[in-house]
Amino acid sequence: MVLLETRRLTKEFRGFRAVNSVDLRVEEGTVHALVGPNGAGKTTLFNMLSGFLKPTDGRVLLAGEDVTKLPPEKIARRGVGRSFQITSLFEQLTVVEHVAIALQSATSLGYRFWMSERVLGRFRTRALELLEQVGLAGVAVREVHSLPYGQKRALEMALVLALEPKLLLLDEPTAGMSVDDVDRIIELVRRVRAGRTVVLVEHNMGVVSSLADRVTVLQYGSILAEGSYGEVRQDPRVIEAYLGEAHADDAVSHQPSAVSGTELMGDADGRGAGLRSEPKRDG
Ligand SMILES: Nc1ncnc2c1ncn2[C@@H]1O[C@H](COP(=O)(O)OP(=O)(O)O)[C@@H](O)[C@H]1O
Ligand SMILES: [Mg+2]
Repeated sequence: MVLLETRRLTKEFRGFRAVNSVDLRVEEGTVHALVGPNGAGKTTLFNMLSGFLKPTDGRVLLAGEDVTKLPPEKIARRGVGRSFQITSLFEQLTVVEHVAIALQSATSLGYRFWMSERVLGRFRTRALELLEQVGLAGVAVREVHSLPYGQKRALEMALVLALEPKLLLLDEPTAGMSVDDVDRIIELVRRVRAGRTVVLVEHNMGVVSSLADRVTVLQYGSILAEGSYGEVRQDPRVIEAYLGEAHADDAVSHQPSAVSGTELMGDADGRGAGLRSEPKRDG
C-alpha cells in the first residue's frame, strides 16, 4: 500500500520553483531516502509533507486522503512525525523532563501544566522507555545543554517517537555527526522503523545504502531518478548531478571514468563519505 503520495507537488518562492511537479510514492513499511545535491528542494518538499509549507500547486495524500490543506498539527495528529534539520531543544530541562513534556503535549493537557511534578510523574515511565529505545537512559537526568551533539539528535528522535508516528520524516539526522554517532543513528533508525514508514533526507550515502529500501534523487526541484540504492548509484544522470556538485567551482573537463560514482557515493559499509562536507555543529 502507498502510505504517502504527492501529485505534481510544486512550491514556488517568488517565481522560483524550489519543488517542481514532484510525484512521489512511499510504500508503507519502507525506509525511503530523498537525496540530491544542495538546494535540490529536499527540505522544501519535507516542509510540504508535514504541512509547514503550503504548496503552490499539487497535492499530498496520506493513506489516500488529501491532507494538502491541513495545518501541521493536524497532519501530526494523523501520525506524521518529523525532525528538523536544525535542532531546537529546551536546553535547561533535563532529558527525561523534555520527553515527558513532549508526551504531555500530545495529550489534551497540551502545554498547560508543563513541568508540574504530578504531570512529570505521570509521563515519566513512558519517557524512560523512549529514552531506553534511543540509547539515552543513562543520561536521563542530565540537563539537555550538557549533552554532546550526537545525543541531542538522539533526544530529538525520542521527541518525535513520543508522538507515536506511523510515518517518520527525518531531515538529515546524521548532519554534523562523528562516525560513531552516525553508526548509532543507523542502528536507531533500524530499531524504530519496525511497524513504521520512514522518509529520510540524507547526505551520507553510507547511511542511505545501509537503511533505504528505495531512493529518490532530486535535482533542481524535480525527480531525477528513483530505485534501489544499487540502481540509482549507477545511474549516469545521478553520477553527473553529483559530479556537477563536487566540481561546481572548477571549470572542469573531467574524465567521467576517473571518478566513479561508486567512489563519489561512498561504500555500503555505513561509512561512505557525504557528498558535501557538513560543518560540525556542536552544542
Ligand atoms: N523560504 C524560502 N524563500 C526563498 N527561497 C527558498 C526558501 N527556502 C528554500 N529556498 C530555495 O529553494 C531551493 C531548495 O532549497 P531546499 O529545499 O532547502 O534544498 P535542500 O534541502 O535540497 O538543500 C534553494 O535554492 C533555496 O535557496
Ligand atoms: Mg535541506
